[in-house]
Amino acid sequence: MDSLQMRLILFSFVLILSFPSSSSVSLRVGFYKTTCPSAETIVRRAVNKAVSLNPGIAAGLIRMHFHDCFVRGCDGSVLLASTPGNTAERDHPANNPSLRGFEVIEEAKAQLEAVCPQTVSCADIVAFAARDSARKAGNINYDVPAGRRDGRVSVSNEVPQNLPRPSFNAQQLVNNFKRKGLSVDEMVILSGAHSIGVSHCSAFSNRLYNFNATHPQDPSMDPEFAALLKTKCPPGNGGNPTVVLDASTPNRLDNKYYVGLRNHRGVLTSDQTLLDSRSTRQMVLDNAGHGSSWAAKFAKAMVHMGSIEVLTGSQGEIRKICSFVN
Ligand code: HEM
Ligand SMILES: *[C@@H]1O[C@H](CO)[C@@H](O)[C@H](O)[C@H]1NC(C)=O
Repeated sequence: MDSLQMRLILFSFVLILSFPSSSSVSLRVGFYKTTCPSAETIVRRAVNKAVSLNPGIAAGLIRMHFHDCFVRGCDGSVLLASTPGNTAERDHPANNPSLRGFEVIEEAKAQLEAVCPQTVSCADIVAFAARDSARKAGNINYDVPAGRRDGRVSVSNEVPQNLPRPSFNAQQLVNNFKRKGLSVDEMVILSGAHSIGVSHCSAFSNRLYNFNATHPQDPSMDPEFAALLKTKCPPGNGGNPTVVLDASTPNRLDNKYYVGLRNHRGVLTSDQTLLDSRSTRQMVLDNAGHGSSWAAKFAKAMVHMGSIEVLTGSQGEIRKICSFVN
């Protein structure tokens, strides 16, 4: 190689190094340490207060982070209100009326705007609030890398192509999570969030009354459990009541969800399929047997989920009100 070629190669190296891709602006623990030192404390207090009054809010806030991250990345798009020309994510049937905790985010945001105006993004507030909910409901503690910026777009039609459905089988769940960069293991670990909170009957009542042509009832569900669910969910879903997703410890974020699956007491098809599919069965059994290792993996997977397609640096904006773009 002559020295001209050598210099060309060196030159291209320098070029590559001096133009970092936008993804190199990454999230960072303690992002608001100097710009808004009380940021995480303010969110934690708002979450603790709300969850003390209604433990179901912890479930709502963890689910909110998931629904935010899976549609257009973790950019706070799930918080935006619909406008005259546009139906937003939060008004898609997957979110409205079931998604809860919006008022906690708005409350934290109002307090943050009072002490550090236009500094803390709504997307970060959602990520902090999900973490604080996991702490309150399951004593699961982890640091949240922050620095997300808020998006300016929220489209209802993007929800069904991106969020998994409760009727999904294991392969469909694996594919859905894979498209977001999450592994099979992470999918099974994160499904453990269904150890708290509720589901409306409409999300699973086909399993009780009209499963398929030969089986009115889903044979993968314990018949006694099905009989119990039938007392809570009338045929036709009149009034569409709710049932708890983990009957053994409904407000405790723990690994009992997996024990429930082992006992064929998963509420959603997408829950029970994790035991019945060969690719995920052993993971369910491992999580059922090892609570603290599940909790550690859950924390890690939440951090990973929280990094999906984030806006950073000068992308997006810092909203003043979480339900409206500036
Ligand atoms: C694996 C695919 C998933 C599917 C198909 C799914 C589907 C659902 C459905 C249908 C409900 C009931 C909503 C209702 O009718 O009120 C629900 C509730 C819930 N989901 Fe998921 N989910 C999945 C994964 C996740 C993940 C990854 C998380 C968070 C890490 C999560 C957190 C929750 C929580 C906490 C609730 C209870 C919400 C409340 O009580 O307000 N889910 N999910
Ligand atoms: C109904 O479901 C059962 C259990 O999953 C299955 O064995 C059977 O083949 C299904 N029948 C039809 C007609 O799809």
